[in-house]
Amino acid sequence: MKNFYITTAIDYANGAPHLGHAYEKVLTDVIARFRRLMGDQVHFLTGIDEHGQKVQQSARQRGIEPIELCDEAAVAFKGLCEKLLISNDDFIRTTEERHTSVVRALLQKLYDDGQIYEAEYTGYYSTRAEQFLQEKDKVNGEWPEIYGEVTEIAEKNYFFKLSEYQDWLIGYLKENENFIVPRYRLKQIQEFLKEPINDLCISRPRERLEWGIELPFDKDYVTYVWFDALVNYISAVGFGTADFEKNWPADFHVIGKDILVPSHGVYWPIMLKACGIPLPKALLVHGWWLKSGQKMSKSTGEVIDPLDLIDQFGVDSFRYFVTREMNVGQDSEFSTELFLSRYNNDLGNDLGNLLNRTLNMTARYVDGTVPSIELEEDTEKELQKSWGETRDEVLRLFEGFQFHQGLEKTFQFIRSINRYAEQRAPWKLAKSEDAKEQSLLKTTLGTMAESLRLASLLLAPVMPEIANKIPRLLGGQESSVSWKESLEWSNTLVGGRVAGKTILFPRPETSG
Ligand code: ME8
Ligand code: MG
Repeated sequence: MKNFYITTAIDYANGAPHLGHAYEKVLTDVIARFRRLMGDQVHFLTGIDEHGQKVQQSARQRGIEPIELCDEAAVAFKGLCEKLLISNDDFIRTTEERHTSVVRALLQKLYDDGQIYEAEYTGYYSTRAEQFLQEKDKVNGEWPEIYGEVTEIAEKNYFFKLSEYQDWLIGYLKENENFIVPRYRLKQIQEFLKEPINDLCISRPRERLEWGIELPFDKDYVTYVWFDALVNYISAVGFGTADFEKNWPADFHVIGKDILVPSHGVYWPIMLKACGIPLPKALLVHGWWLKSGQKMSKSTGEVIDPLDLIDQFGVDSFRYFVTREMNVGQDSEFSTELFLSRYNNDLGNDLGNLLNRTLNMTARYVDGTVPSIELEEDTEKELQKSWGETRDEVLRLFEGFQFHQGLEKTFQFIRSINRYAEQRAPWKLAKSEDAKEQSLLKTTLGTMAESLRLASLLLAPVMPEIANKIPRLLGGQESSVSWKESLEWSNTLVGGRVAGKTILFPRPETSG
């Protein structure tokens, strides 16, 4: 059986991990975990993008070798993955031989096929910024100060015949409407393809840029960083070996909207097509985390260090927040207030208190053992019915990447367990000697435990620690049934001993 193969973008090695990186990894991980729980074999790839001008510049400024800077970045980004409980199966670095050899093989193939040609390119070049400029970079007809001296230079380079594939790509996108998820993002590519596209300059002269993969057919040039980076998706899964088809074509490349056009939406499909390699099945394009309307990144200076929130509030809370707030595809504004509000209300009050009430009352009224449900009345039947509906709906939403709505539904169900408890008022039932009321007391506590077990299991793709912890605190045993089967209302907790008081989401010191 072919694996469900999912990837994140590979992050620039030049710069520290930020909330945007963390979000993309969590989103991809939620999908990967969900697919595994649903029974798929998953292969999940992430990694870092190590070549290019910026890495070379930063390394120079610090007086170290580019590879040293990349080694540091690898530690930082792998550390982020661990901290976020990312279940990636592989982590690729574009300086690895398994990657550079594939890039060179593809370049050679395209060159031999006549798809890469040499040409002279004339343009305005800024030595200070080490980049070519265009007329549109001028401000009031002048080159801005930041570019320093700008001269017109002619340079020989290698070009890939991108433009020959423009019509093919337009047709492909028309016939494969599900290639871009969510579908409304397709327009961005279609807009781009309305004008004739240029061939792609895939080389940089070594005298301007050393830190790159040497062209196999001209040692005075290195490979343009996007041509290099995109190839990671196939080099990491053994392109050219018998194993390749276990994973390829990828099911989803998860990327942010800033790298859809032209890199993932135009260059990558055309590169694959030109090499005779099947295209990935789809691109899942997410939006941005914004701060005061601006994209958050290292360079905007508005960086919230995701690791800080994780240390303070726990990884599951962080994962919950980013998944609950972001409607996949759209943008979302980040604020600490919003984080604290979700943490205190959804996690602390709705979920955390429910667990504690269940543990406390089970300890006090029925000797700490989960009782069996002796007397099902309409109230219980309604809650059970509502569980069945919640589960089916949430699974459907998760299948369609509507995680924010899936979580909303799950927490609606959690709140309905709290309402159920209010209605039954076990603290009143506990005072009665009446046999029926005693039965109802047991029924209520058994029902609370079971419904909480189910709700927490449904959170497993998003909150792996909590989903594992809550059933155990409720006295549940390791079970051998599949996740989907474990989402059935059952009596598996009956007779188990519950844990003592447990605060899952402690109040922050300074409440916001
Ligand atoms: O683009 N909100 O790397 P990168 C959400 N190396 N997502 C964000 C974000 C934000 N504020 N900021 C960045 C690159 N991202 C290339 C990719 S792939 C072959 C090469 C996302 O470190 C961004 O959209 O700038 C991208 O998907 C990922 O983080 C890495 O961004
Ligand atoms: Mg970026």
